Amino acid sequence: MSNLDTPTISASATHDFSKPLRFLIFGGTGPCGILLIRKALQVYSNSTVIVSARSPQKIPEDLTFNGRVKIVTGKLEELDKVEKAFEAVADSELHKQLEEPPSYDGATQPNTTLRSSKVDVILSALGPPVLKGFSYPSNHPIATFYGNLIDIMFNQGVKRLIVMCTASHPDPKDKLSGNPLTSGIVTIVKLFAHNAYVDFKEVGNIIRRKGGEAEGESSSQSGVPETDLKASKLDWTLVRVPVLTNQDKEDTFAGYVGDGKTGNALTKKAFAAFCVGEVEKREWVRKAPFICTPCL
Ligand SMILES: NC(=O)c1ccc[n+]([C@@H]2O[C@H](COP(=O)([O-])OP(=O)(O)OC[C@H]3O[C@@H](n4cnc5c(N)ncnc54)[C@H](OP(=O)(O)O)[C@@H]3O)[C@@H](O)[C@H]2O)c1
Repeated sequence: MSNLDTPTISASATHDFSKPLRFLIFGGTGPCGILLIRKALQVYSNSTVIVSARSPQKIPEDLTFNGRVKIVTGKLEELDKVEKAFEAVADSELHKQLEEPPSYDGATQPNTTLRSSKVDVILSALGPPVLKGFSYPSNHPIATFYGNLIDIMFNQGVKRLIVMCTASHPDPKDKLSGNPLTSGIVTIVKLFAHNAYVDFKEVGNIIRRKGGEAEGESSSQSGVPETDLKASKLDWTLVRVPVLTNQDKEDTFAGYVGDGKTGNALTKKAFAAFCVGEVEKREWVRKAPFICTPCL
């Protein structure tokens, strides 16, 4: 059995994981994204997962035919299809809605319209393909997509966005000199996969800029009055990852680059577990933690 087939539960008993959340997942065709889908389904047992993907054939069959999963095919640039994903309804959800007793609009007419479907959380494992560093386009397609996605999120009233990023996007709390290995890896990526480096760097920039700055950063920097900023803020989390491995471990440590505690490797399973765990914990809202497998 592969690493992608064997999810393990590490849910805390204090949270209500039976909440019927609706997840929308991007990047769900790579190993990290497939693990994200599995983890969301596993931890939130009544959840449904919409996957927006350009290569749906890469999603394992057990997920494709899972009634709680709905796949919407489309490229990142096809924003009409991205918007469609917000309205998509998985089979299990459709059944639930049809079973609900009809509510009455006025005295006589039954209202048989389905409940308007809204997404609760967006998770993303989108990232430039590691082996195509040289041929990756220079127009930062993933960052550009997030800019468009945030516009759609505001229109649709969706606030929570948890996305993969890397140390290519620095956080003010990082101390690059404190971790020469991470700093060296960033420099190598910058030199040999420059466009991929720029895309992740811009992912962080665009999400901070359009989603609302992190706590403690002044509104005068953005020119937007504080009250408007609060009203328009997204609950984003940039999950910055180091080198990804395939080990069967889910534990993570979250901090900042060079804080003396973060290391240089993380399992893909731990990435998925961290993102799904953050949905309930909300410990890193409008923050960009650097996460790793805890150092022994
Ligand atoms: N391996 C490492 O050590 C390491 C370290 C740091 C960060 N990362 C990042 O982690 C990411 C996720 O890891 P993974 O193993 O799951 O990688 P992956 O197999 O490359 O998955 C990347 C996902 O992003 C999607 N994607 C990328 N560019 C896209 C575009 N222009 N339009 C639409 N979809 C696009 C892919 O879709 P398709 O399947 O359609 O291509 C796939 O779903 C990687 O992309 C990499 O950049 C890796």
